[in-house]
Amino acid sequence: MQIVHVVGARPNFMKVAPVLHALSGRPGVQQTLVHTGQHYDPNMSDVFFQQLGIPAPDVNLSVGSGTHAKQTAEIMTRFEPVVVERKPDMVLVYGDVNSTVAATLVCSKLGILVGHVEAGLRSFDRAMPEEINRLVTDQLADLLFTPSEDGDVNLQREGIPREKIHLVGNVMIDSLVRLLPEILRHTTPGLPKRYALVTLHRPSNVDDSATLKGILKSLLDVSQDLSVVFPAHPRTRQRITEFGLNADQLRLLDPLPYVEFLALQRGATVVITDSGGIQEETTYLGVPCLTLRNNTERPVTVSLGTNVLVGQDAEKLRSELANILDGKAKKGTIPPLWDGNTGERIADILTGKQSSGNAPHAGQKREASVKAQSSQVVR
Ligand code: UD1
Repeated sequence: MQIVHVVGARPNFMKVAPVLHALSGRPGVQQTLVHTGQHYDPNMSDVFFQQLGIPAPDVNLSVGSGTHAKQTAEIMTRFEPVVVERKPDMVLVYGDVNSTVAATLVCSKLGILVGHVEAGLRSFDRAMPEEINRLVTDQLADLLFTPSEDGDVNLQREGIPREKIHLVGNVMIDSLVRLLPEILRHTTPGLPKRYALVTLHRPSNVDDSATLKGILKSLLDVSQDLSVVFPAHPRTRQRITEFGLNADQLRLLDPLPYVEFLALQRGATVVITDSGGIQEETTYLGVPCLTLRNNTERPVTVSLGTNVLVGQDAEKLRSELANILDGKAKKGTIPPLWDGNTGERIADILTGKQSSGNAPHAGQKREASVKAQSSQVVR
């Protein structure tokens, strides 16, 4: 069985690693890793490959940055010949980034089976580019691997047949569990005992100067009580400079490698973020998380975990922070199946070890074969 994994952006890397590892020992499975190059800075990409033990990509499409349409189109154009040449039995896509939807579109038109890892998450906010990517990918995918039950409910509401859906748990937590001993051993020099860890990169928070200015003002207020450690995404750093904003009181750092960043999360008094994955990691680690968004596609982090949505409400951020500093932080539990074995469950389903109902499994291509379609030119 020939499986192609497609990744492109930082949050994909901790999701592909457990699946690659779980499949690597299975008889008859050949794997190809395609990196689209959506993220290309070494500290957004290479360092994650090293720490997570991911082999160097077999193919790098080197697409780089661009508008959504350009980036998506470029990935599609460069990925199509790879699929046509390699004729995989299954292509696995991860998360909700532009690389995810671009690869899915290519495969579904070529009649290649697609498995979506981290399917079914919904923020119900179509202003988020990731929500569009999730909706399209899930409609087209043949196998949908969900991290939590809300994913199954969302997919069935959208008419996805039950037999295509597999509740497997949170694959990103597998990487965390595997590297936890290293994370626990890691010490960050010069770090105060109590600090707030901040990340920020959502277009809705950083692309508008007034919004970003308001958030930085709130973070300056936070820095009156706690040191603010802020590894900045390249997009956010660009905007702070472009808008001429003041972040002098904050400890602005370059993006950090996986282990270093998780160690900072684990030791933080509070994490303030607009990321998706960090809401999940803090829930697993039991660290209070204040999310600078009005919605989340990961509702179990609120219902079961340590996450609280504060949006851009400076007053709410202040009062929630005061609760945490008073020792009244929300206590959470770890959601079911976030146990470090999700990669193995996915591998079992793909290799037919576990019954997958009527769902197509790898090797059982849809009627339109790649061969037939690859020679067609759309006019
Ligand atoms: C992408 C994902 C988002 C994910 C985030 C994690 C989409 C739609 N969004 O957003 O879901 O949470 O990655 O980081 O796919 N840049 C660099 N170096 C890099 C990568 C990006 O400088 O290695 C800069 C470029 O100026 C680029 C900007 O960051 O234009 C944004 O990058 P892009 O991949 O378009 O989106 P992200 O904001 O990173």
